[in-house]
Amino acid sequence: MHQETYHGVPRTKIPWGPTINYEKCVSCGKCADYCTLGVYESEEKDGEKRPVVKKPNNCVVFCTGCEEQCPAGAITFPSKKETRELIRKLQKTENDGQADCLKPKEVKKTVKQAYAKIAAESGTGSCCSCGCGDQNAAQEISKSIGYSDEELRVVPEANLGLGCGNPTALGNLKEGDVVLDLGSGAGFDSFLAAKKVGASGKVIGVDMTEEMVNKAKSLAAKHGYANVEFRLGDIENLPVESGSVDVVISNCVINLAPDKARVFSEAYRVLRGGGRMYVSDIVLLKELSIKQRKDSELLCGCVAGALLKDDYIREIERAGFEVKILSEDQEISERQYNGIALESLKIAATKNS
Ligand SMILES: C[S@@+](CC[C@H](N)C(=O)[O-])C[C@H]1O[C@@H](n2cnc3c(N)ncnc32)[C@H](O)[C@@H]1O
Ligand code: SF4
Ligand code: SF4
Repeated sequence: MHQETYHGVPRTKIPWGPTINYEKCVSCGKCADYCTLGVYESEEKDGEKRPVVKKPNNCVVFCTGCEEQCPAGAITFPSKKETRELIRKLQKTENDGQADCLKPKEVKKTVKQAYAKIAAESGTGSCCSCGCGDQNAAQEISKSIGYSDEELRVVPEANLGLGCGNPTALGNLKEGDVVLDLGSGAGFDSFLAAKKVGASGKVIGVDMTEEMVNKAKSLAAKHGYANVEFRLGDIENLPVESGSVDVVISNCVINLAPDKARVFSEAYRVLRGGGRMYVSDIVLLKELSIKQRKDSELLCGCVAGALLKDDYIREIERAGFEVKILSEDQEISERQYNGIALESLKIAATKNS
């Protein structure tokens, strides 16, 4: 399989691949037949078909299989020494970039400050870049990501327009279920879940931002939700008993957590056998630049901390889950993220009994 990175360096930055010397080439086509990675394409020249190197970045570093196939000695590669030096240089640039990125503690501090401000300003009519303080903007965003009009009438003050999907609609929540909402914010999805699980069920919302938890608690009291409890806590270290939850939900939160592997293994721990997790989250379709990764506004806006889609899914599987992709919303990129190559991914993950 084509690897995204090679020794920590994005593959696209390593221009390592074959060069064909057409004076020697006898157009036998063996190189293109041998390589299955789409490096070569066939082109017509002087009535003859000949291979052309179209995607050198697809080439697996140090494979050299095509060179061995060539009967005419027409294929050459950059020397191994040259390649090693280039990779070392690129690794240094990558590491320097990473070194300037926020450390996990700083990420959490920055994220907390941003969401504390959003909680404080919500309902005041003021408007931040994501439209959070503005009820109409929040309603519009929410409709576009899959909430029905009926759902939007359930505790509308809890809807700050911060989600990227509608996790309670992704699976079947039953009467009596215990549901855990990771990064519950002002509690919008928790309240929707509470309606579904009824008085015999229970919903626990966990969020690390005190202002969000306080807002969610006061809305629960105001609207008389007795089956919802909001806890202050970090989703990397859940304040929840092992094996006590039927369904975990989460909406646009895990991208903000520095240690996603830890979040998924915590979700796995608290679920009972056979339990399910429904997540809507932002994942990247292309690596961000170092500048983008260091941008704290992009971090709090659910972009800079996001993983590449395949890496995200791999982390969930590594925690022990069986993963199913339910849907992918790529249009959200144009609607809300200035065209950055990302999508909102909706997955169901099961903990086998
Ligand atoms: C984009 S908002 C989404 C809120 C909510 N899920 C919704 O859809 O309205 C992200 C929320 O995740 C919380 N959060 C971010 N990182 C967290 C972490 N490591 N542990 C707990 N909560 C976290 C933030 O405080 C914030 O309330
Ligand atoms: S070196 Fe390997 S991966 Fe690269 S073009 Fe040749 S056969 Fe394909
Ligand atoms: S294997 Fe060698 S001779 Fe044959 S097409 Fe490729 S470069 Fe030309």
